[in-house]
Amino acid sequence: MTKTAILGYGTVGSGVAEVLCGHADSIARKADGPIALKYICDVRDFPDSPYQDLFTKDFSVIERDPEVGIVVETIGGIGVALDFTRRCLRAGKSVVTSNKELVAMHGYELTHLAAENGVCYLFEASVGGGIPIIRPLTQCLAANDLLEITGILNGTTNYILTRMARAGAPFAEALKEAQANGYAERDPSADVEGHDACRKICILASIAFGRHIYPDQVPTEGISHITPTDMDYAEQSGRKIKLLGRAVLMPDGTVSACVGPHLVDLENPLAGVEDVFNGITVRGDAIGDVMFYGRGAGKLPTASAVVADVIDLARNREHRKPLLWEKGGPDAVSAQPMATRWYVRAQTRPEELRTALGGGQLLARRGNENGETACITAGALTPEELRQRLGALQPLSVLRVLD
Ligand code: HSE
Repeated sequence: MTKTAILGYGTVGSGVAEVLCGHADSIARKADGPIALKYICDVRDFPDSPYQDLFTKDFSVIERDPEVGIVVETIGGIGVALDFTRRCLRAGKSVVTSNKELVAMHGYELTHLAAENGVCYLFEASVGGGIPIIRPLTQCLAANDLLEITGILNGTTNYILTRMARAGAPFAEALKEAQANGYAERDPSADVEGHDACRKICILASIAFGRHIYPDQVPTEGISHITPTDMDYAEQSGRKIKLLGRAVLMPDGTVSACVGPHLVDLENPLAGVEDVFNGITVRGDAIGDVMFYGRGAGKLPTASAVVADVIDLARNREHRKPLLWEKGGPDAVSAQPMATRWYVRAQTRPEELRTALGGGQLLARRGNENGETACITAGALTPEELRQRLGALQPLSVLRVLD
């Protein structure tokens, strides 16, 4: 019998309890024995919860209980979650988490701490909600040298962009809907300013390319400045605007990564990833491109990934190998920011803009009578090269283009 505890009874934690208890019989078959939920730790009271007997406000009860072999951390954030995770690992308990902020910032330390204590730190749910992506990267695609990862990694912003494109919904209204559905972070600026997607691409890049990549090493831009005008130009050019996280292995072994809104051609499968769904394309040298798609946020999809990690640990208790990568550092990332083509919108005459950009494709828009124009650059440029080309021209909007 495996005994578990849940730290943090929020959206994901309550989903984990529901899935663990609701699917107990089938989980017992898959885990080679029953998995019992022994404690739920939260400082709040939940008088209506069906798990009344399991609640404790005292984490040390769990820490000191030798029967608890696996702890699920769904507190989120760094402070208490980091402290409790370290203490669980030191106490010889494996930890499963959906906490992308913690893994992106402290994944190197925590995976190594787990290994030193003969246990595991698993985090399938930290990227892509219910989509299997960590295990495919480490196991199913293990034969490949991985070259590139490009993904729609944030359900809230994808939901907002979809609602803005389809219904012309204002940004604030679409955000409220996403929050009401339990997709958004407590502080939704982490979603709309791209920080959540940044944490996720850092986790994927660390696993895929073998060295820890930190969020402050990845240039990150959100979607709050996207306007209906940009949506219109994108549509007229046969593209959609998507918030993408990208990480590319460079020839010198460094990683070039960025997060920001991109114009994505309708023929690219990522353009068809709508609403709260996430989509992640991974390029390997043997397999070529492979894509992962599914619900990237929400209570039960995320709980699905957490519980799968718990089952994996229960099943492979004695021989589950730890998931590890090497230390990060300034030399892990490329000195040169990523070069892409760019969409530029400016209050200027079309030929003036095109000449400034050194050529490119001018875009049309229905009912454009503001004297503004938009153009997609002919070739890939770094942000600095683009800035030099624009010179004194003040663009209204600048977005990357995914090729
Ligand atoms: N706020 C996140 C999102 C939750 O919208 O994708 C899942 O990580």
